[in-house]
Amino acid sequence: MGYLDMFCHPVWAISTALLTVFVRIQRNYARWNPRTCEVRLTGKTAIVTGANTGIGKFIALDFARRGARVILACRSEVRGTEALNEIREKTGNSDVHLRLVDLSSLDSVRAFAKRILEEENALHILVNNAGVSGLPRQITKDGLEASFATNHLGPFLLTNLLLDLIKRSAPARIVTVSSVNHKRGKVDFSHFRGENLTYFMDEVYNHTKLHNIICTNELAHRLQDTGVTANSVHPGVVMTEVMRHYPLWVRCIFNLVGFFFFKSSEGGAVSPIYCAIAEELEGITGRYFDSDCSLVLPAPLARDAALAVKDFEVCERLTSKL
Ligand SMILES: NC(=O)c1ccc[n+]([C@@H]2O[C@H](COP(=O)([O-])OP(=O)(O)OC[C@H]3O[C@@H](n4cnc5c(N)ncnc54)[C@H](OP(=O)(O)O)[C@@H]3O)[C@@H](O)[C@H]2O)c1
Repeated sequence: MGYLDMFCHPVWAISTALLTVFVRIQRNYARWNPRTCEVRLTGKTAIVTGANTGIGKFIALDFARRGARVILACRSEVRGTEALNEIREKTGNSDVHLRLVDLSSLDSVRAFAKRILEEENALHILVNNAGVSGLPRQITKDGLEASFATNHLGPFLLTNLLLDLIKRSAPARIVTVSSVNHKRGKVDFSHFRGENLTYFMDEVYNHTKLHNIICTNELAHRLQDTGVTANSVHPGVVMTEVMRHYPLWVRCIFNLVGFFFFKSSEGGAVSPIYCAIAEELEGITGRYFDSDCSLVLPAPLARDAALAVKDFEVCERLTSKL
């Protein structure tokens, strides 16, 4: 039998088809299933950033189903309103609200936090989910590199501005949606201002995701004995709009491979939801969870306590009002 004949053989075709179906079914596997988790969030308030699409929308949907008061923190009124209506309609929960914030702007984050502090009596869950990848070089009006501002410094400031409210609401949880890509990230504080960066594929993104974990760990350390936990999580490789800033050919390959192997947005929301609500995680803090909800070690740099103290201080300085 010739080499090509083998590929045309019915046994080959059937096994390939079966394998494809199996791989596609397995792509959303996690050791925890939100559908079988009976935790209710009635009386609890949750904020999910970037909740208008992708992973964030499914996190917000889950919280709304469980009866929480949910605040969708989105930057686009149109896209946010669409998600708001969809979530209200699907869950029958009318206590879901849209508040606008552009995380790349420190002023916008301050205005958002001010409004939340005026309007909300409690905040039990904060999910820092919003993020971008593949942005070209841009410096924001705060003088910060745009990917760092959106993925790390904006959420960092937001968390700190809401921290007293979160502490008063304890037990409470802060969940940072990072990425396994943090393992390819580096720490160089000049990156925050857009210096010494290479804009190739996801290089800049990877650095931002490393800072996410480093600062979440330091936050967890600072929050000891407050009843507030702070953990980071990898949602998996997920078919969302996250590749929107990449060239067309990269998006085509991502979507083609992703159809078989990558998680759906709903599947990607599972590990962040787990960190936010699972009873077995009560009191667990300063940890990093994988996309199947298992507790795993992050990269060595993300475990360096001295570096975390320094990083946190640098971020405090960069986000403080002069
Ligand atoms: N998808 C993956 O494979 C993957 C893997 C690892 C980690 N993650 C992480 O998962 C999180 C969610 O990503 P996703 O995959 O769901 O991506 P997505 O579909 O692109 O959604 C990203 C969300 O973030 C919002 N956002 C972006 N820039 C913002 C800004 N300046 N201010 C406020 N909101 C902003 C977007 O709002 P607009 O719709 O208005 O732009 C959108 O709601 C991100 O932190 C990402 O790094 C994703």
